[in-house]
Formats: sequence, structure tokens, C-alpha cells
Amino acid sequence: MERFSGRNVLITGGGSGIGQATVHRILAEGGKVVAVDVNEDGLKKTLDRATADGTADRLTIQVLDISDEASVTTGVAAAIGGLGGLDVLVNAAGILRSSHTHETSLEFWNKLLAVNLTGTFLMTREALPALLAGGEGVVVNFSSTSASFAHPYMAAYAATKGGIQSFTHAIASEYSKQGLRAVCVAPGSIDSGMTHNPGLPADADLSLLAKLAPALGQGFAGPETVAGVIAMLASDDGAFVTGTELRIDGGTHM
Ligand SMILES: NC(=O)c1ccc[n+]([C@@H]2O[C@H](COP(=O)([O-])OP(=O)(O)OC[C@H]3O[C@@H](n4cnc5c(N)ncnc54)[C@H](O)[C@@H]3O)[C@@H](O)[C@H]2O)c1
Repeated sequence: MERFSGRNVLITGGGSGIGQATVHRILAEGGKVVAVDVNEDGLKKTLDRATADGTADRLTIQVLDISDEASVTTGVAAAIGGLGGLDVLVNAAGILRSSHTHETSLEFWNKLLAVNLTGTFLMTREALPALLAGGEGVVVNFSSTSASFAHPYMAAYAATKGGIQSFTHAIASEYSKQGLRAVCVAPGSIDSGMTHNPGLPADADLSLLAKLAPALGQGFAGPETVAGVIAMLASDDGAFVTGTELRIDGGTHM
């Protein structure tokens, strides 16, 4: 499939997990990609894999901190300048931290908001003019099953993901007449850097987490399972999908 041939795609969190898998999926489907992340080593690994795949001529890697306004402003401008326009923004970058809510510091709360929610806002704001200029721009944001279903010890994280869903619905309506589509993926139980170390409190009551097991398969799925859905949503195959979220969790929350 070459659904992204001639399309320019900017992907955050491109140095690990689902963002990285999405970079490779879009490259495999013919797209031109700028992958950004705070983790330069992760980005280099993304580039190494693209070199091995023979797709590196369509990939640029760039260090960018989505929670830093100046980094986003200059980084997005450079990315769009290099690509020569923008068709798709995938806001995959995010952090997961867990804690007892009564022990959660304001610093911890603010950090989650700054990266997950404010970072998604800043990236989207800076990319919108270029996305609208093309007339059929797409924004894929990252919610989580924790936004709609109870995940203990993740109140702050879940709140950021619920905020991202609301933000996505609003922009889907606001720019619909200009051809923009905005959708969320809501993954759960995906093998990634984040789920290798969710940082649960040492005394977490694991019985509260027992229900968070996928019905399909033998356990967690690989990040490419989400990347394939993102490719569908961001391509013309998703042309009538906007202002909604798609749960990708192997039936954990059926
Ligand atoms: N893995 C899951 O089961 C799951 C479930 C629900 C939602 N998600 C969401 O999927 C998205 C991708 O996460 P993942 O699971 O691939 O985890 P991951 O940790 O493997 O990848 C996240 C990437 O975001 C980058 N990042 C963190 N802070 C950043 C910043 N300030 N600026 C730029 N980049 C930054 C990290 O360096 C990392 O490369 C996240 O938004 C996460 O909340 C994942």
C-alpha cells in the first residue's frame, strides 16, 4: 500500500514505542516523515531502522520538546519548511507517571499536564496553519483507555488523556469546514517504553489492576498494532472519520 505517497507527516514521540512504529508504517506506505522526540538516542535508532529498510531518504529526525513553547515554535516551523508543507500531524509523545492521588505533588501533576495536554495543544496550534493550507489536513491525537475507564493510581495521567479527547472534539468541529479531520486513538496494553515501567506505587493494590487485561491474544500487543490503525485513520481510508476516538486495547474494556 502507498497511501502516503506525496504526503508530509510530522510525528512526535518518534523515538520509541507507538510513535516510532508509526514513523516506520508511514514510511513503508510512501510518506515523507519528520520524527521528533526529546530522546535523541531513540531518534537515531529510528533512523537506523529506516536506513536498514531503505526508507531513510524520506525521514528527518529532529530533537524537540513538546512541552516547551519555543522548542515547538521553532521545531514545527523547521519541520514544515523541510517537508514543504504538512498533511498529517501525529501527536504520539507522552509520559506516564503513577502515584496515590493523595500523595501527588503539584509538580508531578503539572509535569503530566505540560507534556501530555499542553504539548498536544502547542504542537497542534503551530501545525494548524500548514494543515489547513492543504485543505485535507489530519490530526491524530493520543488519548488512552484510562480517559474513559477507571485506571487506579493514574488520575493525573487519565485527566490529561480526557483533556486531549475534549480538545480533539473541539478542533474537529472548529475546522471541519476547512477540511480538517481530528481523531484520537485510545490505546491500552501496548508494549512500549511507557508500559515497561509504569511506575506504580510500591504498595499498589494489584487486585484493582487485574481487570486491565486484554481479551485477545496472550498479553500486551506490539506498537505496530496501533500504527496500522493510525495509518488507516490518517489516510483517505479514514476520510469520513472525525471528532471521535478509537479504542485499541484487545478488548480490555469491552
Ligand atoms: N503503551 C500503551 O499501552 C499506551 C496506552 C494508552 C496511551 N498510550 C499513549 O501512546 C503514546 C505513545 O506512548 P508509548 O506507549 O509509545 O510510550 P513510549 O514511552 O515508548 O514513547 C513515548 C515517547 O514520547 C517521548 N516524549 C516524552 N516526553 C516528550 C516531550 N516532552 N517532547 C517530545 N517527546 C517526548 C519519549 O521520549 C518517548 O520516545 C503516549 O501518548 C501514551 O500516553 C500508550
